[in-house]
Amino acid sequence: MESLHKALKIAFASEYAFYLKAHYFHWNVEGPNFPQYHELFANIYEEVYGSIDKFAEEIRATGTYTPGSFTRFSILSQIDDETQLLPAESMLIELLEDSDRMQEMFRIVFRAAEELGQHGLSDFLASRQDAHAKHSWMLRSTLK
Ligand SMILES: [Fe+2]
Repeated sequence: MESLHKALKIAFASEYAFYLKAHYFHWNVEGPNFPQYHELFANIYEEVYGSIDKFAEEIRATGTYTPGSFTRFSILSQIDDETQLLPAESMLIELLEDSDRMQEMFRIVFRAAEELGQHGLSDFLASRQDAHAKHSWMLRSTLK
């Protein structure tokens, strides 16, 4: 259970960092396709943010505590912070790589939850993997 707790906290901090980056790109994207990019990033950050509270409460239900500060998030997150103002295409490429990474992270944490018979939790983690598969599809298709 202890390794599951750790993996959950890392995935949670990473998901929050992913959410924040999508929102940051939504705010700052520029270029001739601004309306489409602005909306694409909005759809992504809104979907991910909508999962955060449930994710935190799923973690609490496993008997551990949920991180909730930028300090802890920056220690735990495997999604690198972006502080630069990137061109639109670079934003799409970076968020696609991050979304693929989130899919992989959820695939691994899912297995850990399943091994402990935490089927409700693994169901939630599977839905997050699936949500990121869709975000990756949208980003990949926009880059073609
Ligand atoms: Fe907005």
